[in-house]
Amino acid sequence: MSDADTFIRSVAVECLPGVEKELSIHQEQVGDVGTVVWDAALVLSYYLQTPKVKDLIYGKKIVELGSGTGIVGLVASLCGAAEVMVTDLPDLLPLLNKNIETNKENIHGIVTAAQLTWGKKEHLTSIQSFIRPDCILIADCVYYRDAVRPLAQSVLALLNSSNSSVALCSYEDRDTSDKAELQIEFRRILQEEFGLRIAFIPFHEMHPEFRAEDIHIFKISHKTNTEA
Ligand SMILES: C[S@@+](CC[C@H](N)C(=O)[O-])C[C@H]1O[C@@H](n2cnc3c(N)ncnc32)[C@H](O)[C@@H]1O
Repeated sequence: MSDADTFIRSVAVECLPGVEKELSIHQEQVGDVGTVVWDAALVLSYYLQTPKVKDLIYGKKIVELGSGTGIVGLVASLCGAAEVMVTDLPDLLPLLNKNIETNKENIHGIVTAAQLTWGKKEHLTSIQSFIRPDCILIADCVYYRDAVRPLAQSVLALLNSSNSSVALCSYEDRDTSDKAELQIEFRRILQEEFGLRIAFIPFHEMHPEFRAEDIHIFKISHKTNTEA
């Protein structure tokens, strides 16, 4: 992929209090939904930089689902994650690898890109053989019906890697077609069918500059995880 096919979004990341680095995220001029940075990804990226959340990320192993450009996973890396695996459909891997390569000087620990089509057992097994995540990150991935259950199944499979792992999921309110219903269905599957706990992050706990009334973040964990 040549630079002529992309345009860059610069994102300032406060890695530690008072220590700022800049990420350069390539987005594609022409492409599918994953080739640009979505607002829910920005809100989640900045939430990761708030003091309360740093413990979930610093020194931890992270898997991001439906990474698109990889911005959220890369921010996790700059915030001190030991290992990050950004994942998406095969078509997005060149963009993910380009963004990893572009930002390699600022990356902390290891960042890799891998294919994970939601719900695909062989992809999940392969990912779990490389990394057992402490934290799973998901931004703006609930938007079409066929993917809701496979995405929920992928979250469950990765959460099962360790009883203490958690997932953070962000989304933007949309009133087009069945989008609101899909969000409710996603949470219903996680809670009622899989018996997981969902807790919404209060607005005042999000990053004071990068939050919006119509963008939400919730945490998913096993009910037995008393630390979540
Ligand atoms: C709206 S984009 C969000 C991208 C990025 N997380 C962000 O917020 O900027 C949804 C992402 O989910 C990915 N995706 C859609 N269906 C998928 C599937 N069945 N398995 C894996 N990834 C999928 C898309 O390729 C895309 O990158």
